[in-house]
Amino acid sequence: MDYDYKLLMDKAKEAAKMSYSPFSKFAVGASVLTKNGKIYTGCNIENSSFGMTICAERCAIFKAISEGEKEILAIAIYSPNEDDCYPCGACRQVMYEFQGENEITVITEEKENLNIKKLSDFLPYGFKIHG
Ligand code: THU
Repeated sequence: MDYDYKLLMDKAKEAAKMSYSPFSKFAVGASVLTKNGKIYTGCNIENSSFGMTICAERCAIFKAISEGEKEILAIAIYSPNEDDCYPCGACRQVMYEFQGENEITVITEEKENLNIKKLSDFLPYGFKIHG
């Protein structure tokens, strides 16, 4: 489906400015469009106890879900440190959990051009309990 990819990327860029990444110095921002048409943003937040770090994507997704959202339509990911910054494996699985009938669109930026992919490009045969 066609969404406002540029708006989502702009929001991800804005969110990356909030990154708390004193250890890796690798800033990431993400924005999530939900089925209700709302956009939530997140950034990576690191911790002195390194394992407590949360990625930007999960930060944005958890903000959305904790506000009552149930389904994600699209996510934009941006890092000023890396062109075409892709989501880690853990975040791919978390995205999959909140995918509904519409496949999630994943937006990244490469040399100032947007790359538009589907979650299945990153995570084929995802795992979900259909209880
Ligand atoms: N990071 C993200 O925010 N998203 C990803 O998908 C990959 C990694 C963050 C975690 C950590 O703060 C930094 O990037 C370096 O791994």
